[in-house]
Amino acid sequence: MKTVVVKCGGSVLKELSDSFFSSMTSLLADGYKIVFVHGGGPEINAMLENMNVKSEFKNGLRVTSQDVLKAAELVLSGSMNRKLVRLLEAHGIAAIGLQSSDQGILTADFINKDDLGFVGDVTSVNQTVLELILKAGLLPVLTPIAKGPNGTVLNVNADHAAGAAARALAADHLLMVTDVDGVLDDGQLVPVLTSLETKKLIESGVISGGMIPKVQTALKALESCEHVHIVSGKKPFYEDGRWHGTQFNKEEETI
Ligand SMILES: Nc1ncnc2c1ncn2[C@@H]1O[C@H](COP(=O)(O)OP(=O)(O)OP(=O)(O)O)[C@@H](O)[C@H]1O
Ligand SMILES: [Mg+2]
Repeated sequence: MKTVVVKCGGSVLKELSDSFFSSMTSLLADGYKIVFVHGGGPEINAMLENMNVKSEFKNGLRVTSQDVLKAAELVLSGSMNRKLVRLLEAHGIAAIGLQSSDQGILTADFINKDDLGFVGDVTSVNQTVLELILKAGLLPVLTPIAKGPNGTVLNVNADHAAGAAARALAADHLLMVTDVDGVLDDGQLVPVLTSLETKKLIESGVISGGMIPKVQTALKALESCEHVHIVSGKKPFYEDGRWHGTQFNKEEETI
C-alpha cells in the first residue's frame, strides 16, 4: 500500500484551491492511500482572543494551559475537522473525521509540562484503526489532539502529529501543506533542503515560528519516508508526477 500522509495547516484551510483538490484526486488515481492530519492555528488564536486569553508560543509550539486545551479541542474537533471532511467530500473524496484521542489513534506524553503545559509528543499510533479505514477506501482526517497519560488529552503540534503518523504507517511520503510556497529565504522559494542547510537557516533566523516544527518534522521523517515536501495549499502541488514546493533530501543525496 503506497501511503501519503498529508498535513493540512489551519493556516491555509480556508484558502485551499480547487487545484489543491485536483492534486489530491491525482494522487488517489495514481493508487496512493492518503491520511490527513490538520492544524487549526488561526482559529484557535481567534477563539482565545474572544476568551481574552493571550496566545503564547515557544519554538513554534503553543503553550497550552487547561483553558487553551479546551479551546483547542473545541476548535480542532468541532470546527476544523468538520470543515475539512466536508471540503474533501464536496470534491468527491470519501473522507471520515477522527478524534485522535479516541482508541489511542494518537497517544502522547508531555514534552515538558512546566514549560509548555498540556503539549504532547506522540508515543504511539493505532495503525490497526487507520489501516482498516484505508482498506475500506476512506480517507481518515485526524485531529492533532492525542490521548495523554492518566485520562488526560494533549495538544500535539499538527506537524509533529503528521510526522508520527507517517513513521508509524511507514508512509512513502509526508506532505506538509501550508499558506506559503515552501521554505522561503528572502522571499524566494528554497526548492531543495538537506538537514545541514535547514539547521543553518534555523540558526540564522530565516526559519522561525511555525516553520520550525515543520522543518524539524520534515528532517525526522526522512529517516523513514522516501519523499518529504512542504507545499502551498493555494496551488496544485502534484502535476504530471512532479511535486512542487520545498523537497527535503538526505545529506548524501546531494554530495
Ligand atoms: N523561512 C520561512 N519560510 C516560510 N515560512 C516561514 C519561514 N519562517 C517562518 N515562516 C512562517 O511559518 C508559517 C507557517 O507555519 P504555521 O504554523 O503558521 O502554519 P501551519 O503549520 O500551516 O498551520 P497550523 O499551525 O494551523 O497547522 C508561514 O506562514 C510563515 O509565516
Ligand atoms: Mg503550524
